[in-house]
Amino acid sequence: MIPPKQIQDILDATRIEEVIEEFVTLRRRGVNLIGLCPFHGEKTPSFNVNPARNIFKCFGCGKGGDAITFLREHENLSYIDALKWLARKYNIEIQETERTPEQVAEMQLTDSLYIVNDFALKHFQEQLFDTDEGKSVALAYFKQRGLREDTIRAFGLGYAPEQRDLLIRRARATGHNIDLVKKVGLCSQDGGRDFFRGRVMFAIHNISGKVAAFAGRTMSSDKTIPKYINSPETEIYIKNKTLYGAFQAKKAIRQQDECLLVEGYMDVISLYQAGIENVVASSGTSLTEGQLQLIKRNTNNLKILYDGDPAGIKAALRGLDLALEQDLNVRICLLPDGHDPDSYVQTFGGEAFRTFTTKNAKDFILFKTSILLEETKGDPMRKAGLVKDIVSSIIKIKDRSKREEYIQGCLNLLASSNAYGRREAEEGIRSEIIKEDTKNINKLAEKNSRQPGPISDTQGSYPDYHQTIDPHTPSSNTEPNSLGQDRRSALMTDEFQERDIVRLLVQFGSQTLDKEGISIAEFILADISESLSDFDNALYGKMAGLCYDLLLEQKTPDQNFFIHHPEKEISDLAIDLLTSPFDMSHNWEARWGYPLQNQPIPDLNFDADMRQALDRFKLRKLNKLCNVLNPARIKAASESENMEEVMRLMRIQEKLKSTRNELAKKTGTIVLP
Ligand code: CTP
Ligand code: MN
Repeated sequence: MIPPKQIQDILDATRIEEVIEEFVTLRRRGVNLIGLCPFHGEKTPSFNVNPARNIFKCFGCGKGGDAITFLREHENLSYIDALKWLARKYNIEIQETERTPEQVAEMQLTDSLYIVNDFALKHFQEQLFDTDEGKSVALAYFKQRGLREDTIRAFGLGYAPEQRDLLIRRARATGHNIDLVKKVGLCSQDGGRDFFRGRVMFAIHNISGKVAAFAGRTMSSDKTIPKYINSPETEIYIKNKTLYGAFQAKKAIRQQDECLLVEGYMDVISLYQAGIENVVASSGTSLTEGQLQLIKRNTNNLKILYDGDPAGIKAALRGLDLALEQDLNVRICLLPDGHDPDSYVQTFGGEAFRTFTTKNAKDFILFKTSILLEETKGDPMRKAGLVKDIVSSIIKIKDRSKREEYIQGCLNLLASSNAYGRREAEEGIRSEIIKEDTKNINKLAEKNSRQPGPISDTQGSYPDYHQTIDPHTPSSNTEPNSLGQDRRSALMTDEFQERDIVRLLVQFGSQTLDKEGISIAEFILADISESLSDFDNALYGKMAGLCYDLLLEQKTPDQNFFIHHPEKEISDLAIDLLTSPFDMSHNWEARWGYPLQNQPIPDLNFDADMRQALDRFKLRKLNKLCNVLNPARIKAASESENMEEVMRLMRIQEKLKSTRNELAKKTGTIVLP
């Protein structure tokens, strides 16, 4: 136990930016520091560190907390270990007090399993390095497979001789509890026989380097004996959250911003030895979500190396949509016939391996398309199925521009195969995508309509912007909902669009547009001047109004005007806007139920960014007129039997609709019926 006083000392000494900077490159933005979030893959930084409050927050994935949280999540440390990590960093000496018996018992539950595994690791290593049999049989085997002694040690390789109960006897002699030996699967349940016998051993580490399990490989080529056998699942070995080699590879994966995925233990070890250290193995099974998350913590780029036959590869590809869903960039590389990564690198060396895999890696979706095409050749019946299959993957990609790139890539492939005309392929893909999109939108809309009150994000993977977007005046439109739940999206307030407009004014208001020769602020405000009194959010409306007044006085509003504004709510909002993330596309989708273009970094693209924002703003206002306000007027007019007014409003309604639809088309937005 660390005494509370010392915990306080440690926390007092801790500066969150110094801790996080050991893992993430940060740069200053306003009062905060920002960087690329280490917990989810991203290209534009939304990971914020606030030194004043000693906290971090990612606006992309929602993770946030203090330095302890960061270390626990990022380094997989326990609370105590995170404190110790900080104590080491800040040179604070910890005097631990005695633990209570309960604490001891609790700790022992998992710790003791690790202790048994540690004992077993040492045992297997001794058998390998320090016995005649080990040296002549097992060490010779590893060396014959091209492994150096430093590699053998780094990966915790060992040897379990054929004897019946050698490990059990050693465990007894050194005072280990045999129940625990059973529990980690190192011996039979009756305690009579060792589990691993006559095998070379591979330690399986967890992400922080503790031995969680073992695998044993037979040295015999007898096909009736299982080649590898594994420890069972235990509290410390959860298979679908473990990737072999992840502990050794972690740093290299982060540095190279890429993770190589292979199938086998030997593949990982041989590649690592050849200097290709960013490699992990799925141990022969298909990737699970837990494993993908482990990868995603360190990089967004996954390169999968396959050595199988086409049928096996096709089966493997099916599981990979999961990786797309997690926003990973997935590439596939097939190795030449008869080689797995281990044999390739042992035969041709690391340099050749690197060259080969760089040259031959194909993007997953394109790879899948070409494999499916190959299959479909000469079987026109399967053409429609192929398009569906491709779209099932494409639809997983949330980033619109990336999605579009894939569509183009697939179209090129389909068209060049001669199985499809380009037109036919394009129509097929697009209509299939719209079908799928509509399905998803409807699902979202349905979920939204089931949730009363302010709209919260409906999908777990989307960040919760609601709290962060507007701390000032959280409001919800209280227009009576006489039009049924399907109009619900129109009833929501336009705060997102309004905020976007205000953000553009604050961030870029003073910049000049090349084409128009006027400032952004002038351009925006000329466009929306008649909506100034229509803002749902009073503060955003006030900001826009302030800008407008300045322009009337022939002044150009710039950032400083807002940041140093005497009214605190204005300056606070300005700072918030200047430090908050700008890529809201995911959230747009979740909240508003229809997809929007992904916004590129606004600094580079504020022109297009602004035009889109304006269109979206206007679209929202039109939508509301069209779906809520005008229909309500029509209803009122017909109730008071003012037919002339009804007719007039109906004509307006038609006009509104067509304008709205045109704008929707332009912004690529799907309008709910
Ligand atoms: N595997 C397993 N149990 C088996 C066979 C395979 O757990 N009975 C897993 C192992 O992780 C193995 C991987 O699947 O590393 C790939 O299997 P395979 O290609 O048969 O073996 P290699 O990795 O090539 O092993 P080696 O090079 O040692 O033959
Ligand atoms: Mn092999």
